[in-house]
Amino acid sequence: MSNGQVPERESFTTTLGVLAATLGSAVGLGNIWKFPSMTGQNGGAAFVFVYLICVAVIGIPLMISEFIIGRRANANNVGAFEKLAPATPWYLTGVAGVAAAFLIMFFYTDVAGWVYSYAFKGLTGGLTHASSTQTADIFSKYTGSVVGPLAWQWIVLVVISVVIIAGVTKGIERMTKTLLPVLFVLLLLCDVRALTLPGAMAGVEYLFKPDFAKITAPVILAALGLAFFKLSVGMGAMTTYGSYMGKKVNIPSNAIKVALADTLVSLLAGLAIFPAVFAFGFKPDAGPSLLFITIPAVFQTMPFGQVFMTMFFLLAAIAATGAMISLLEVPVAYFTEEKHWSRPTATIFSAGVMGVVGSLATLSTSTLSKTLVFGKTFFDLFDFASSNILLPIGGILICLFVGWKLGPVAAVDEASNGGTLRNATSLKVLIILIRYVAPIAILLVLLNGLGIVKI
Ligand code: TRP
Repeated sequence: MSNGQVPERESFTTTLGVLAATLGSAVGLGNIWKFPSMTGQNGGAAFVFVYLICVAVIGIPLMISEFIIGRRANANNVGAFEKLAPATPWYLTGVAGVAAAFLIMFFYTDVAGWVYSYAFKGLTGGLTHASSTQTADIFSKYTGSVVGPLAWQWIVLVVISVVIIAGVTKGIERMTKTLLPVLFVLLLLCDVRALTLPGAMAGVEYLFKPDFAKITAPVILAALGLAFFKLSVGMGAMTTYGSYMGKKVNIPSNAIKVALADTLVSLLAGLAIFPAVFAFGFKPDAGPSLLFITIPAVFQTMPFGQVFMTMFFLLAAIAATGAMISLLEVPVAYFTEEKHWSRPTATIFSAGVMGVVGSLATLSTSTLSKTLVFGKTFFDLFDFASSNILLPIGGILICLFVGWKLGPVAAVDEASNGGTLRNATSLKVLIILIRYVAPIAILLVLLNGLGIVKI
């Protein structure tokens, strides 16, 4: 297709590379930190049940929609809308996505810094023989300090900037292709260890035996927000990656594989954490600290605990890095292509803003812990505003764009590679999901969850 694209635009070179890169975006702290902590805070299996429905009915169609927009336009998140709907306000969807990327990175780099520092502590023996009260102390002392967390946040930003400056194929593709299998193996090892503990079954039941009375409007909004955050949809990360996909890539199949694999990683993380939590009599609803207090404590009480724990945090650091690369790539692609900045300038500027404003999130656990905006710390505000507001709104707009503006004919053409994929019947279902089911469901969940309407 010739649509005036820049000829030297990079792209992912192999089908496996595409899968690895998109999966590398999806798999991250969402699986290892957010999924377990939110599951624990929202009552266990019932939340997981709603989450799975959100992934299937809303997440997958949305991911396919983003791939369609990106590949069809072969441009960054803003340029894509300008190309497919010239001289309309649709490009604002792309601008909102760039804003969402910053908002997410403000707190994501903070948590990633915690994870990096715990991996480092594990490697250097800093958590050896710490009991559960000690691990809680270590965590609150760490997050309550100023220099350490800020330094680690900036180290994280430097690491991902280096990868991003190296460029799409060399940086992102090579890194995720190598790291994902390592991550998977490490996670399986942690699972075996957790599941063979006496009393592990209580954790398995907590994760898989739903108590449907626990499903309320805010719980559904939380599950939906997590589905967006998990699958990296609603803000154009997948649009940007879609634009690096070759014309032969099977878009729907790639999206389904990514969603399945990502969900598997979340469940494996849950299976590494909850059985151990119950086996040792901890509480599952510790929230964001679950990973950092419970996991070290749990691992310390096992044979080879130090080794397993270090592996666990290394794994989390690897996953977080792949996800952040996709987040940083959104503004970088925008600034290089729309504003004609060089790749290093765009990267250093974006990472700089993320570091400076992101400090507000990092300081939310220390000097700024009492500074509340809309009743939330900066950390919680960035988190809530991105996952539970910006991503769902972006998701509605993306579905409406593909379903109504770009239209079913073009969407089906792109999702079937010009009719060569023979997936016409499933695409009929997909179009119904994109045009009606997903946007209406997102809107209802959003309005209900925010308490604006009550059904
Ligand atoms: N999906 C990633 C995770 O679970 C986070 C992430 C990466 C993301 N890119 C995104 C979230 C884009 C929303 C939008 O950790």
